[in-house]
Amino acid sequence: MLVHKIDEVKSKIREWKKEGLKIGLVPTMGALHAGHASLIKKAVETCDKVVVSVFVNPIQFCPGEDYAEYPRTLDEDVKLAEGIGADLVFAPSPDEMYGKGQRLSNDTLAYIVPPFFYVDKLCGKSRVGHFDGVCTVVGKLFNITQADCAFFGQKDAQQLVIIKKFVKDLNFNVEIIPCPIVREESGLALSSRNKYLTEDGKKEALVLSKILNNIKACYDKGITDVNALKETAFSFLTEKHDMEYLEFVDKDDLEDKTTADDNTLVLIACRVEGVRLIDNIILGK
Ligand code: PAJ
Repeated sequence: MLVHKIDEVKSKIREWKKEGLKIGLVPTMGALHAGHASLIKKAVETCDKVVVSVFVNPIQFCPGEDYAEYPRTLDEDVKLAEGIGADLVFAPSPDEMYGKGQRLSNDTLAYIVPPFFYVDKLCGKSRVGHFDGVCTVVGKLFNITQADCAFFGQKDAQQLVIIKKFVKDLNFNVEIIPCPIVREESGLALSSRNKYLTEDGKKEALVLSKILNNIKACYDKGITDVNALKETAFSFLTEKHDMEYLEFVDKDDLEDKTTADDNTLVLIACRVEGVRLIDNIILGK
């Protein structure tokens, strides 16, 4: 069932809640691929009713980012989600989500603002305000759907940590279920933004997973000094790779690490053909 209006979602949810059903939510921006599909599958396996939201959220895009170009494939998304067993696809317009004529700024709109320590690093450094937009829309989706569980990919590791944090700090009644990164056979992490890459670019994009896998192999051999592990990345980089960051942090609180351990999350962001790609690995896994 495809629904565009908040009130329609709410009335369906009321019905389900009356029956005592467990509701799962999978928030997405659409252009669904096998990564999203894995989240929906897990939700279908663990919940009685599953809502998939498809909403390209304007307030999480920074000026100059790809809000206008972001792929929008709602018909296919609905087929994919329902094919896996989702019960409801919620695809609101920006006006429906934020109010017609509402200026999309925190001067006039209430936001959920995650702690500065969690956002002033990694992707948050270059995407100022991005995580305010993410937390705000995700909080709204939690309230609209009254979800018991919500499913998020480890692919967006900083996003996952920040969402867990605001859910805990603001006492949202939702359990956050992390899901592993789905990759192409080549190792490339699936992303809706991979669509912007040429075939050659997709090959060049393998540099992210290669660097991470190599770091993990070095760690497994006993190298724990973060500077030494970072150095290993350079041999993979050419002028086709515009590296934004390679960082080692604690997987739960994003505290910087100087010595790697099993709880260390290694994150990388790199531009290939002008497309900003991210990937990560937890060394203990
Ligand atoms: P989007 O990029 O569409 O991703 C939706 C969910 O799918 C996120 O939880 C993301 O981590 C997960 N995902 C994406 N690629 C994945 C992969 N290769 N393997 C596993 N999971 C993957 O993330 C967002 O949308 C938005 O910020 C959102 C949370 C919906 C708020 O607007």
